[in-house]
Amino acid sequence: MSAEGVDLKKRRFLTAATAVVGAVGAGFAAVPFLASWQPSERAKALGAPEEADISKLEPGALLRVKWRGKVCWVVHRTEENLKDLPTLDPMLTDPNSEVPQQPAYCKNPTRSIKPEYLVAVGICTHLGCSPTYRPEIAPADLGDEWKGGFFCPCHGSRFDLAARVFKGSPAPTNLVIPPHQYLSDDVILIGQDGGKA
Ligand code: FES
Repeated sequence: MSAEGVDLKKRRFLTAATAVVGAVGAGFAAVPFLASWQPSERAKALGAPEEADISKLEPGALLRVKWRGKVCWVVHRTEENLKDLPTLDPMLTDPNSEVPQQPAYCKNPTRSIKPEYLVAVGICTHLGCSPTYRPEIAPADLGDEWKGGFFCPCHGSRFDLAARVFKGSPAPTNLVIPPHQYLSDDVILIGQDGGKA
């Protein structure tokens, strides 16, 4: 073989090798690029629905569940609480939940799927403080009309046990009811409702 023939072979080999390296390089470059478009595991975890086990939640008690970094409440309302709710309507800003602060299946007098359980996002609709659960009837600081509910310590907004805001509160709207569904009588999945909203 002539020296020229060897050179030609060598050149072809080098060209092919460069092309392979180039393709591999592009592959490596593409992976981080694509990865940056995928939600991270942390982001996925933050958006994931959260299960609430209500099997031990006594009437009158409140359970806190974190969903998307927000505190959600599940309150087991008593028979008495349910009777009291409609009597509060005249004192409320939006008693019939006209402002869309809840999924359609919770636009009802108890703002819930099952009347005995309230599921709500525990963030005040004024400036985002976390209201305090005040289930007592007529405590001295909240007055004779108080039938149990939530009191925001930041600027004094008041909400009833359906998370509806009282007139005169700085909070403009009722608290948010998150999408949710019952996986069984004992477990509520907060953050996902199977598209029922
Ligand atoms: S943040 Fe709740 S009343 Fe202002």
